[in-house]
Amino acid sequence: MSAIESVLQERRVFPPPAAMTASASVPGMDAYLALVAEAERDYEGFWARLARETLTWKTPFTKVLDESNAPFYTWFEDGELNASYNSLDRHVEAGNGERVAVIFEADDGAVTPVTYSDLLGRVCRFANALKKRGIKKGDRVVIYMPMSIEGIVAMQACARIGATHSVVFGGFSSKSLNERLVDVGATALVTSDEQMRGGKALPLKSIADEALAMGGCEAVKSVIVYRRTGGKVAWDEGRDLWMHEVVANEPDTCVPEWVGAEHPLFILYTSGSTGKPKGVQHSTGGFLLWAAQTMKWTFDWKPTDIFWCTADIGWITGHSYITYGPLAMGGTQVVFEGVPTYPNAGRFWDMIARHKVNVFYTAPTAIRSLIKAAEADAKVHPKSYDLSSLRILGTVGEPINPEAWVWYHENVGGARCPIVDTWWQTETGGHMITPLPGATPLVPGSCTLPLPGITAAIVDETGQDVPNGQGGILVVKRPWPSMIRTIWGDPERFKKSYYPEELGGKLYLAGDGSVRDKETGYFTIMGRIDDVLNVSGHRLGTMEIESALVANPLVAEAAVVGRPDDTTGEAVVAFVVLKRARPQGDEAVKLANELRAWVGKEIGPIAKPKDIRFGENLPKTRSGKIMRRLLRSLAKGEAITQDVSTLENPAILEQLGESA
Ligand code: PRX
Repeated sequence: MSAIESVLQERRVFPPPAAMTASASVPGMDAYLALVAEAERDYEGFWARLARETLTWKTPFTKVLDESNAPFYTWFEDGELNASYNSLDRHVEAGNGERVAVIFEADDGAVTPVTYSDLLGRVCRFANALKKRGIKKGDRVVIYMPMSIEGIVAMQACARIGATHSVVFGGFSSKSLNERLVDVGATALVTSDEQMRGGKALPLKSIADEALAMGGCEAVKSVIVYRRTGGKVAWDEGRDLWMHEVVANEPDTCVPEWVGAEHPLFILYTSGSTGKPKGVQHSTGGFLLWAAQTMKWTFDWKPTDIFWCTADIGWITGHSYITYGPLAMGGTQVVFEGVPTYPNAGRFWDMIARHKVNVFYTAPTAIRSLIKAAEADAKVHPKSYDLSSLRILGTVGEPINPEAWVWYHENVGGARCPIVDTWWQTETGGHMITPLPGATPLVPGSCTLPLPGITAAIVDETGQDVPNGQGGILVVKRPWPSMIRTIWGDPERFKKSYYPEELGGKLYLAGDGSVRDKETGYFTIMGRIDDVLNVSGHRLGTMEIESALVANPLVAEAAVVGRPDDTTGEAVVAFVVLKRARPQGDEAVKLANELRAWVGKEIGPIAKPKDIRFGENLPKTRSGKIMRRLLRSLAKGEAITQDVSTLENPAILEQLGESA
């Protein structure tokens, strides 16, 4: 049975615990339905109420939604606010300055708590230092940092002065970093000498140096370096500055730059089905509203909670549920530098026990890999730790198979914690379809129902609604505040990618396939319907990996597809035609390893193909189109049932069936 079939057959229902419902922000299904009805009755009034209650505005907005330039929607446009003020100052002003904002745990286990007052002071000092370097409102600052307090400080400092940050995940290569620096037009880069992961020091500054040397980003005048390890780095005297030196004499106050609600808070690159990664532009007001509001609803946030989201700040999950959402709510959160398997695969459970974490949010891939480790060694089994502090569990980034869901529920959550399986995307800014812990009866493998105000639906190829029980294309019918505003520098691509004419031009196309249950209307996500792969919850475009492969001088042609994988959800399989004779045996293994390393250098280690198959050709139709469906079957090792009579050379199917 495939993973999707097992999700669709899963019928067990887990009702919310009565005690949770009693104290929840959305206490039961009736309360949920009342919010849904409120949004239906008065869509703009509903969003305006949340925006007034959840955020602090310098200048109150008078306009809510403007659809006159659709699909370039705007929200709360004439309102003014500052994301850093909302994340820090307002809690200090309310007398909560001594509350711990971040409990930072380093790779080696060292723990550093940081209060709201401390964090505000550090953000102000760095904001002042950025201003001294001439960085101002509207400038773009790229952040290429490890998981650290300093990474959060850098993001918040940009927000404070109205500079737009663009965080690049520390696992990306110099080439990927260069492309993003160029595309976003950065004037400054914040990085670190090295990062520590799993006991190993990995370079960042030297990769950043390489990226800058590739050219096209001469506008970067300042490179500010956080000293994490003290490892040796090359230094450009006119350009490079140590973070600790630039903040040393700066005051710990800095008046926030009040910006319009539509001011771009950040640009975050993500993979699409075609071409280079897209710079997803998010607003200040709408984004921050939803990051905070979903903390309240999805995670039923309470002032005494210890929250822990294991994502990296290089991804949207780290933006919404580390840097902004928890801080905007004035919450206390754990921030972790390392990896779940170091010093052993009990690290997450040990940290939950030591920090008494109440709400834990991670990716299905991590759960699946920790299941394997726990089954092999009782010492790292969650049952060997005191996880009684946990109240709510969450997952994000990819479908969770019911087996992993049930294991997580029983072994980590002690069969008492609801699991919120949150469906959303870089483009949506925050949760879209998710259970609410005090309201929604859970079905393993289903992300259940849309949040109030979110008009998710399933349609066919022409944009018509399909009945429950029938699969189709997942769309969102009405604009919502935290949605993507545009693709940086490419508004046409924004329109084409997300509001395609084929669907009538008014529906937001998520790019996922989905089906709703006949009785409950619950959504189940069936994976991407475009050429985007999801490997360990990381989004990768097949075209990006193909372009990286064909850039290698040995490669004539390449096609990349995904294959279901027990641990990583999906794995990358590459079909490659070389300019020389098809390699076999040891030579094929050697060349496959070379190509893997090449892709690692071109994009980053996350994009390395797990499996490489060499052929003399690729299977194509008469018109020259690569038969991807056939490649997917070959990748899975399935018998070929498709019509292959049009293939020029059917023998290549046998060749492409063999892994190097
Ligand atoms: O395919 C869906 C999958 O991840 C994609 C979005 O990836 P990204 O922009 O990198 O954001 C990931 C973190 C929000 C979606 O189009 N996805 C995300 N969450 C889920 C999911 N698939 C199934 N279930 C989920 N809960």
